[in-house]
Amino acid sequence: MSIHLNEDIIEEIRSRNEIVDVISRYIQLNKSGRNHKGLCPFHHEKTPSFMVSEEKQLYHCFGCGEAGNVINFVMKVENLDFLDTVTLMGQWVGIHVEEISSTKQEKEEISRKNKIYEINREAALFYYRNLSKEKNLGFTYFKKRGLQDNTIKKFGLGYAEDQWEALNTHLLKRGYDQELIFQAGLVLERKSKDGFYDRFRNRVIFPIINTTGNVLGFGGRSLDDSLPKYLNSPETLVFNKGNNLFGLNLAKKEVGKDKRIIVVEGYMDVISLHQYDIKNVVASLGTALTKNQGELLKRYSDEIIIAYDSDAAGQKATLRGLDVLGELGCKVRVVRLTEAKDPDDFIKHKGKEAFLKEIEKALPLIDYKILLAKMDNNISTTDGKIKFVKAVAALLKQVKSPVEVDAYIKKVAMESQISEEAIKREIFGNNAYNQLNPIQKPIQNRDKYRSKSDRYTNKYNVQSVQPVQPAQKQGYLEAERSLLKLMIQNKETFSKIKIAIGHEDFTDSINRKIAKVIYDLYNIQEQNVDMNMLLNHLDIEEIKTLGDIHQILISEEYLEKALIDFINTIHNHRLREERRLIETELSQLGKKENKTQEEIVRIRELCTNLEKISKELQKL
Ligand code: UTP
Ligand code: MN
Repeated sequence: MSIHLNEDIIEEIRSRNEIVDVISRYIQLNKSGRNHKGLCPFHHEKTPSFMVSEEKQLYHCFGCGEAGNVINFVMKVENLDFLDTVTLMGQWVGIHVEEISSTKQEKEEISRKNKIYEINREAALFYYRNLSKEKNLGFTYFKKRGLQDNTIKKFGLGYAEDQWEALNTHLLKRGYDQELIFQAGLVLERKSKDGFYDRFRNRVIFPIINTTGNVLGFGGRSLDDSLPKYLNSPETLVFNKGNNLFGLNLAKKEVGKDKRIIVVEGYMDVISLHQYDIKNVVASLGTALTKNQGELLKRYSDEIIIAYDSDAAGQKATLRGLDVLGELGCKVRVVRLTEAKDPDDFIKHKGKEAFLKEIEKALPLIDYKILLAKMDNNISTTDGKIKFVKAVAALLKQVKSPVEVDAYIKKVAMESQISEEAIKREIFGNNAYNQLNPIQKPIQNRDKYRSKSDRYTNKYNVQSVQPVQPAQKQGYLEAERSLLKLMIQNKETFSKIKIAIGHEDFTDSINRKIAKVIYDLYNIQEQNVDMNMLLNHLDIEEIKTLGDIHQILISEEYLEKALIDFINTIHNHRLREERRLIETELSQLGKKENKTQEEIVRIRELCTNLEKISKELQKL
């Protein structure tokens, strides 16, 4: 049901919304070189790394990597989908998307969406009124679960009576179209196709409201043990489970100075915690967290605390959620509720203070994973130990900070009685490790014992010809970027690199441009070149790359070796490129029937060069 707006209209709306002007309404921007600069609205920072290019009409944050044009910016900052964003931005500049969208079908879809919001709001009101009527099963149920009147009001909780058409009749009476009521997911069609009946019957109702206050859909809980326990709105034009979080409309204002959000599994967990005055809570609507939900969370918080149910399913869901959040670079900690089945249950039995204590005790993502790995393996056995170390190594490989990796290695070593060296070897692999421990040199070949037939095979040679793997296996592009990273803020390293490589040796054009700026800056000044200096000389695409470079972390421990590897990789790539060109030219010349004298000379020249390159390549 996607809506295809006319590209011309989108372009018109984009170009009439000047990016510096629009972004300035959200954050303070200052001119800096050829760009504008400010504090990034998408992540927490104290020094500005958010750049806006007036010339290119693009923005990029080299701190968190967010980038795009003015429409992307508004989408993110307002948390709206594309259509709503374009509609809103159209309003700002006097373009009415609904009226001018290119086809009749598009106009219809836009107005349908707005109508569904309206119908949902009316339905929520209807359910809420049912609940506030005297004596009804829903109210009794919520009271039994300990909900106070103001909680019911705050969440707009409701009750769907045990009737087949109460809501449908009400909405029709209000003048809403039957087809639209159906599209809002509130009713189902009778098998006989002669009418519709209410989806939610004899259930208490939880409206799901987004951050702009629109009712997207509903969850309905049965009043007893009948199944399904919860019935939810289906996917509609306005509701997608994986794109929303229950309670975020309230939680976003309650993140506090720590900018912290607690993620729980259930509607009732959110509501219960609210009653104990813990309001920075959202529920993931019973599914594993999606990337979309992660991004939503990241927009409003600096730290995410996961407090899922304590059952096995809860733990599995936790892990999946963690992976998504981890990949997004969120700071995540996990609460392990061992003495209750879920946060609702916990806070009712142990109280607010005990729950807050659990929050403070929550384990950082990596510690939680290590703990699970430990519980999965019996480390009192050799086999268990090996499995545990392997699992931990896989986890620590993903940790970027070398200091952190080191700390975890020490911690795991102490806990498991496995040597730090063994864990390191598992993480960094044998070769990087060999460098530091020359004792483990490959076994020498004993040529005299080799039979002639084996001499030209690798049969005995395997050990000695195995190339030393770089500490980080990377392509030349990454090698170039890593070198740039090493040059920034370190004149000493720069001087070493300069001897081996010039800025023109960088193959990628953006890398080359950044290199040129770095080389130039070091030429004219004594002090270290830092990120900020570079920003003023680069345009937005280059800043984007600089952002990636900024993220690269190179372990101090292997710095020297990494340096050599990077330089070799770049040389290697350049030589291969040259060789490829020569070979192409040679094969073209070779095909010619009657070669001129000049061509014969050229071939000879090329062959000499080829030989030189091959020798150089062998040396690397
Ligand atoms: P829970 O079963 O833990 O629900 O499922 P809960 O909120 O703690 O409810 P109570 O306390 O037992 O009444 C967690 C969440 O999973 C979704 C709901 O969003 C629920 O809040 N869910 C669960 C469903 O969508 N359908 C179901 O049948 C069950
Ligand atoms: Mn629960």
